[in-house]
Amino acid sequence: MAILRLRPDNRPIQAPAEMASFLEGEGLIYRNWDVSRLRGGLRDNYALAEAEKAEILAAFKAEVESLKAEGGYVAADIVVLSDTTPDLEILLGKFSREHHHSEDEVRFVVDGHGIFTIRGRSGRYFELTVGPGDLITVPAGTRHWFTLAEDRRIKCIRLFQDPSGWAAIYDDAPAGCQ
Ligand code: LAC
Ligand code: NI
Repeated sequence: MAILRLRPDNRPIQAPAEMASFLEGEGLIYRNWDVSRLRGGLRDNYALAEAEKAEILAAFKAEVESLKAEGGYVAADIVVLSDTTPDLEILLGKFSREHHHSEDEVRFVVDGHGIFTIRGRSGRYFELTVGPGDLITVPAGTRHWFTLAEDRRIKCIRLFQDPSGWAAIYDDAPAGCQ
């Protein structure tokens, strides 16, 4: 279950109804899908074979197809970040800079955790720590950044309209450019 922290006091909100209502008001979709349907190896293994990735996608086919229809997404894949990911620190360096995309950022967490800091529709920043079973949709154009949590790994299903829509459009002035 996700944990929402509102700046500036970082008061944690975990009550599902209160969290979903706040996020909806800020323009995001938040849902929770049941990950207990997955056999253990698919969650713990961070070196997935293609067949195992397909097995995870098949396990959530109904939810993925429904969300595709709802949001106009045409494809889904699996993304995995862990200490064995090549160039992990370079990737995390890019993800941790404030950016937005030309299309929605849709992530369903199969395993692990991640921390999104998001500038909501109201202009208010808030932090959302997501874990297994959490689905979030960050609307196109919404400023955000991402870091791993203490467990230093995350495995997600990603939905998208066009892979080019993933390109990060940075909203911060890169260090040294001030
Ligand atoms: C992304 C996340 C890290 O752009 O915001 O994939
Ligand atoms: Ni992003």
